Amino acid sequence: MPIATFSEKIAQTLSTINYGEEPAELYEPIRYMMALGGKRIRPLLTVLAHHLFEDEVDKVLLPAAGVEVFHNFTLMHDDIMDQAPLRRGQPTVHEKWNANTAILSGDVMLVKAYELFFGVQPIHLPVILKLFSKCAAEVCEGQQLDMNFETRTDVSIPEYLKMITLKTAVLLGFALELGAVLGNASEEDRNNLKEFGIKTGIAFQLRDDLLDVYGDAAQFGKQVGGDILSDKKTFLLLTALEDSNDMHRTELQNWLGKTVANSGEKVQAVTAIYDLLDIKTKTEAKINQYFHEALAHLEKVNAPSERKEYLRALALSLMERTS
Ligand code: IPE
Ligand code: IPE
Ligand code: MG
Ligand code: MG
Ligand code: MG
Repeated sequence: MPIATFSEKIAQTLSTINYGEEPAELYEPIRYMMALGGKRIRPLLTVLAHHLFEDEVDKVLLPAAGVEVFHNFTLMHDDIMDQAPLRRGQPTVHEKWNANTAILSGDVMLVKAYELFFGVQPIHLPVILKLFSKCAAEVCEGQQLDMNFETRTDVSIPEYLKMITLKTAVLLGFALELGAVLGNASEEDRNNLKEFGIKTGIAFQLRDDLLDVYGDAAQFGKQVGGDILSDKKTFLLLTALEDSNDMHRTELQNWLGKTVANSGEKVQAVTAIYDLLDIKTKTEAKINQYFHEALAHLEKVNAPSERKEYLRALALSLMERTS
């Protein structure tokens, strides 16, 4: 089956979800957010993981959609926290409506995500609800660390890696593990798929950090320079602080915590130091390292190589993504 067929089935499933009608102020932002699309990679991971073990696709579509609804809930709340103006090239929900609307619509999306898991075979339900609840709590832990780090100046790279593992990578891990559990995979295969997801997720967030500085605004669909403006402790910044001489380190430190009238000035100055230190190449090398670690876990999964090829190709496309 071509990968486009899996994606079409996911799109079709997502388009049939009924979120609710009244009050319209609660449900309209959900339909808006979901209609903005996005890459839909998490439900695809679930479907492709399941496909390693079973031919039947349809029975995983609703739980796979649950992962995507949960992801969109995290984005709606993340955009409030990050004061982000743009998402997928359009105004964020809190900009188009207001923060209270984005909080409450997001809450209902989390509830909806749980509901979408309820249709799985009863034998799998307790396992899945336990894994999902753990994952959802970890995403919140990662988000809190991400915010804590904004005002800290001594964040280490290991601390950063732990933070992105929680806020981003565990959800990719869960998406894959979900497909494996529903496909009755062995414990060992489940774990290797989860680890493949976590390593891919770390590389994915590194790529996101890179695109936040070096991406093309039109393709990326988010404000370029947003991480610099909110003093995010990204891999780029931490590597620059580590690799710079005293003069550049002092300059970077002076920009941190500074609220500027002209946001372009801060973004340009920090980017210029990244350029000098070749931070782009260093981040790409790190992405590549995690990509290869991810593939090693995928190789260990006991499934036909041609079925694993879908996941290999997807992971590779994510390493090279521009949006
Ligand atoms: C954005 O996720 C949040 C991160 C974890 C970086 P995606 O890049 O998957 O966003 P969409 O769903 O494709 O818009
Ligand atoms: C994404 O982190 C993590 C979650 C949404 C849980 P970012 O804040 O970097 O994501 P974007 O760049 O806004 O998509
Ligand atoms: Mg964030
Ligand atoms: Mg954000
Ligand atoms: Mg980002």
